[in-house]
Amino acid sequence: MNEQIKDQEKFYSVYRGRQGALYHLAYMRTAKVKAVQHMLGLNGISLRGIRILDYGFGTGTLFRACHPSCSIAGVEVDRENVEAVRAMLTARKFNVDDIQQMDVAHWKEHPLLAADRVYDVIVLSHVLEHLDDPVEVLTRLGRNLAITGMIVVLLPLNEKRPDPNHKWVCDAELVERWARSSGLVVADLKEMDHFVQPVQPLLHGESGLRRVVAQGVSLGLGLLQAPFSPATWFRIGGFMKYLGAKPGQLGAVLRKG
Ligand SMILES: C[S@@+](CC[C@H](N)C(=O)[O-])C[C@H]1O[C@@H](n2cnc3c(N)ncnc32)[C@H](O)[C@@H]1O
Repeated sequence: MNEQIKDQEKFYSVYRGRQGALYHLAYMRTAKVKAVQHMLGLNGISLRGIRILDYGFGTGTLFRACHPSCSIAGVEVDRENVEAVRAMLTARKFNVDDIQQMDVAHWKEHPLLAADRVYDVIVLSHVLEHLDDPVEVLTRLGRNLAITGMIVVLLPLNEKRPDPNHKWVCDAELVERWARSSGLVVADLKEMDHFVQPVQPLLHGESGLRRVVAQGVSLGLGLLQAPFSPATWFRIGGFMKYLGAKPGQLGAVLRKG
């Protein structure tokens, strides 16, 4: 098997089995949930009573923040991980019929993207930077968006240690270009999260002591953020710019053009 395919398989399987509550509290996960909630909150929406699709849901942490009144749907690539997320959500009394595996080669034919599927909110959290053709996916997902719906996009910003899995170096101008080419409009755009950028190289420790440090930092920040609303947490983070920190996430809300 060539190295690229092996790396890709490792990337897709990275979330397998990690469904313990402490894992879900780690900042590697909560930072993204907080950022989605922030973008929705700024646009008058909460994770209540909505039809939501999380495209590339990873560990499924975002679903844990959804109120039971939400109708949840999501696709992910690794089958074993999908089963683990379904089990976790079933235990939390969610209907998991629409938590499904997706084969990358056939993503366009996936039943959750069929013409009759409509969502109020579609989330692409740290997904587009992995794709060869983000415009194709955005264009397609735009068809599944309710008239007043929104696509919430999160992307990494100002990465200190470039991730070899990322195909794009993201900024606001790139998001504007993707949206325009997809027939969507950028209704809101925020650079946020000054907590993650200074420690980002630490968070990627994959073995031995580096991994223990990564998990400790991630859990520490995860615990710290818990009592704060998204707006307050990111406002506090803003003060870290005086220490030289830069925003680590870009959030955008895209609507039908
Ligand atoms: C960094 S993870 C983000 C997971 C999760 N959304 C989060 O924020 O933690 C990137 C996700 O993109 C998905 N992905 C990568 N390449 C993809 C592709 N070509 N088509 C669909 N999904 C893809 C993977 O399944 C992976 O879970």
